Amino acid sequence: RILVLDFGGQYNQLIARRVRDEGVYAEVYSSDIGIEKIKELNPKGIIFTGGPQSVYKEESQHIGKEIFELGIPIFGFCYGAQLIAYELGGEVATAPVSEYGKTETHVEKSSVLFSDVSEETTVFMSHTDYIAKVPEGFTITAHTEHCPVAGMEDGKRQIYAVQFHPEVQHSVEGQKMIHHFLYDVCKCTGDWKMASFVEEQVSLLKNKIGSGKVLLALSGGVDSSVAAGLLSRAIGKQLYCVFVDHGLLRKNEGDQVEEIFGEKGDFELNFVRVNAGEEYFEKLAGVEDPEKKRKIIGEQFIRIFEREANKIGTVDFLAQGTIYADVVESGLGKGAVIKSHHNVGGLPKNISFKEIVEPLRLLFKDEVRKVGLELGLPEHLVYRQPFPGPGLGVRIIGEVTPEKVRMVQDADFIYREEIEKAGLSRSYSQYFAALTNMRSVGVMGDFRTYDYAVALRAVITDDFMTAECADIPFSVLQRVMNRIVNEVKGVNRVFYDLTSKPPGTIEME
Ligand code: XMP
Repeated sequence: RILVLDFGGQYNQLIARRVRDEGVYAEVYSSDIGIEKIKELNPKGIIFTGGPQSVYKEESQHIGKEIFELGIPIFGFCYGAQLIAYELGGEVATAPVSEYGKTETHVEKSSVLFSDVSEETTVFMSHTDYIAKVPEGFTITAHTEHCPVAGMEDGKRQIYAVQFHPEVQHSVEGQKMIHHFLYDVCKCTGDWKMASFVEEQVSLLKNKIGSGKVLLALSGGVDSSVAAGLLSRAIGKQLYCVFVDHGLLRKNEGDQVEEIFGEKGDFELNFVRVNAGEEYFEKLAGVEDPEKKRKIIGEQFIRIFEREANKIGTVDFLAQGTIYADVVESGLGKGAVIKSHHNVGGLPKNISFKEIVEPLRLLFKDEVRKVGLELGLPEHLVYRQPFPGPGLGVRIIGEVTPEKVRMVQDADFIYREEIEKAGLSRSYSQYFAALTNMRSVGVMGDFRTYDYAVALRAVITDDFMTAECADIPFSVLQRVMNRIVNEVKGVNRVFYDLTSKPPGTIEME
């Protein structure tokens, strides 16, 4: 395994993930883990992450010289690089010019890390300090216009350092450098796979849970489904999954979830489906304000979940499908509330349990998908597009009624079917139909109609924080429009939403 020592940088889990991408297991530990623990873990290599501080300030995180005596290869990024220089007798100072963003860098191909990297390569820099003088025994392996030591190494002691961040995508050839460190320096074998992650997690979960009972709120989304699959493999019938079908799911989706996890499915667990549509519709009747709708849907969920949990009786653990993006979001989300996302941060209050288990906490979304496939979950579930917790509730502008839910379900079903037929389903990050609260006049046969308008939406985005409208072929849009106005009763007009985010959000409410 590779140890990633965390000095407070933003990209630490990303580093672990880049290492896992190379077929090598990596784990992030806090920089104060202590030398004894490092010896015990006996990693094949250690990576020092970046961090926000200045190494020469007293309050910043240090590591002590002993780590350099262990004979374990070390690779420092950014703050990690400066720390190596500082601890080993080099000099770190405020840079006359700080660098931020994509930066042209010259690398020495004689370095094992850069052997097949272009001599002039683009890397991502983000620093205000720099290494002014390298420690004894080190040679300079890279520089930029403003940074004389963008890379340094002591091949004898197997200590390597770069001022930039090879782990982020803006460092075009960064993955190659990580690869060379793992294979040429640390001599890793690269036989770690997602299957090993599954095995390890299963055994960890078994140990942790023992004969305890575990409760999981299953939404049918990728994350909670993968968590359910993993827990089922670890503890079987000790797992209780409560699936609250709020009646605001996409067409047929509730039944699909039941097919996979219910009695006829392949997973050993206790599956409880609550058909709560009517309860939700009652609560939502007459409510038009988006935030009020979200609140009602969220609170109702907690209430039903608690009610079902109490029927199951005392549980020892509450499981959650939290993934790494959720951890980051809840940690850094200090900005204004744009929308109250209902499945982030809302824990039931009236259920007692000893502990929370979050087996996917450190994984990125695409890794979660790989685990899902590994567990035998169907592809249509594993590659499902994101779907908001409040469901179609936020895709119907204004009051939610069963009739409007039917319209948006049918329109959305047609839209998805045509996108799939056109072979485009993996081309867009998210696409769906929504129901505007607008009615307009139309003509059908010889008759006047006064019906609703559907809005089609499709976006392309990496992080869902910003998004662009997707360029769907006009012929596909026309086919979708034709089918919707003909097949969906109550709809006589179709719009395509061109708005990017910002200023729009992806969902309508
Ligand atoms: P917005 O509409 O905020 O959506 O641009 C960004 C992404 O988040 C999803 N979304 C939600 N997901 N609970 C969720 O789990 C929610 O309450 C929620 N609201 C929006 C949305 O589908 C998009 O992928």
